[in-house]
Amino acid sequence: MRAVHVTQSGDPASSVAVAEVETPTPGPGEARVAVDAVALNRLDVFARLGHPAESDEFPKRTGVDIAGTVDAVGEGVDDTLLDTDVVVYPVVECGECEFCHAGEQTLCPTYEIIGEDRPGGLAEYVTVPAHTLEPVPDELSMETAAATPVAFTTAWRMIVTTGRLRPSESALILGASGGVGHAALQLADRTGARTYATTSTNEKAARLREHADAVIDYTAEPFDEAVRAETDGRGVDLVADHVGEETWQSSIDALAPGGRMVICGATSGADPDIDIRSLYQAHRQIRGAPMGNREDFRDALDLVARTDVGPRIDRVLPFERAAEGHAALENREVVGKVVLEP
Ligand SMILES: NC(=O)c1ccc[n+]([C@@H]2O[C@H](COP(=O)([O-])OP(=O)(O)OC[C@H]3O[C@@H](n4cnc5c(N)ncnc54)[C@H](OP(=O)(O)O)[C@@H]3O)[C@@H](O)[C@H]2O)c1
Ligand SMILES: [Zn+2]
Repeated sequence: MRAVHVTQSGDPASSVAVAEVETPTPGPGEARVAVDAVALNRLDVFARLGHPAESDEFPKRTGVDIAGTVDAVGEGVDDTLLDTDVVVYPVVECGECEFCHAGEQTLCPTYEIIGEDRPGGLAEYVTVPAHTLEPVPDELSMETAAATPVAFTTAWRMIVTTGRLRPSESALILGASGGVGHAALQLADRTGARTYATTSTNEKAARLREHADAVIDYTAEPFDEAVRAETDGRGVDLVADHVGEETWQSSIDALAPGGRMVICGATSGADPDIDIRSLYQAHRQIRGAPMGNREDFRDALDLVARTDVGPRIDRVLPFERAAEGHAALENREVVGKVVLEP
């Protein structure tokens, strides 16, 4: 079968290539998915650029966001799954620890991500534990199903489960043109809260106005000052920050007294230089909210199926043009998601 490999650390053109590899056979408890669509995430770019905290082994097969059709099942798996259109919840947990028992798969100390810790879906076929599969709702295309899991499960965790945003509140979403950011902006808007979004170009700003009461171009003005100007000096109740060290202090400064900052990433680096007094003196909180649990995933998928909330698909490319998708994401040319198809 054909698979997209990251062959080395480097620029997309020289490091992302289609390879011919053996088609996997599902083991006990596994299903094989004939892949229709895979969405890229910043994680695919990090896998290529090299993770600062991990030693890298190449080639790697990424692809966390997978939709396709079950074409084979392993021992112990119900064969009525065959021919079902499925989307993958990309978390494989131990199933036995206190956190797994509480339904918090991503609190499990040994959980793995398909496409990061295990071979991902950027291939014609992928084998995954059958319990990770969720049927694709009738209303959704394979592209939309593939573009939903990481962005919307993480955004759901940030805005709903951990952020607990209410209709009477206000929220600032950083990097609102990105996968997680665009999902978070839509969810925040859907709650009825006042929404503010940051982005880096006028062109991207125009696309965000549909869901944001105000869009801030942070290359033109400091976004915390813009937020305070928009809120009569008060600040917002919630900031969703996945940018990291470049933005942490400004995010804290954009919070109203008692406000909360929800975080899921550190694209610009993980060592912010912050004034901790700016946190505790104003009763502000920082809450970790990475990829959500299975319930967050199901709730997000259901909302995407039922409403006009959903991933904006920026482009769909064949596997052969995967390097182009990597480059677009790395260069911040995308609003929403890049989807690849075999
Ligand atoms: N822990 C988890 O479970 C989890 C899950 C999902 C995502 N994440 C993390 O969340 C972050 C966003 O992921 P994503 O897939 O949504 O990424 P993405 O689609 O590439 O979007 C990132 C956006 O951030 C903005 N940005 C601001 N400063 C940036 C900088 N210094 N470098 C790059 N982009 C910058 C960019 O928009 P503008 O140029 O318009 O500002 C860009 O569109 C990543 O760090 C990712 O690892 C973590
Ligand atoms: Zn566990």
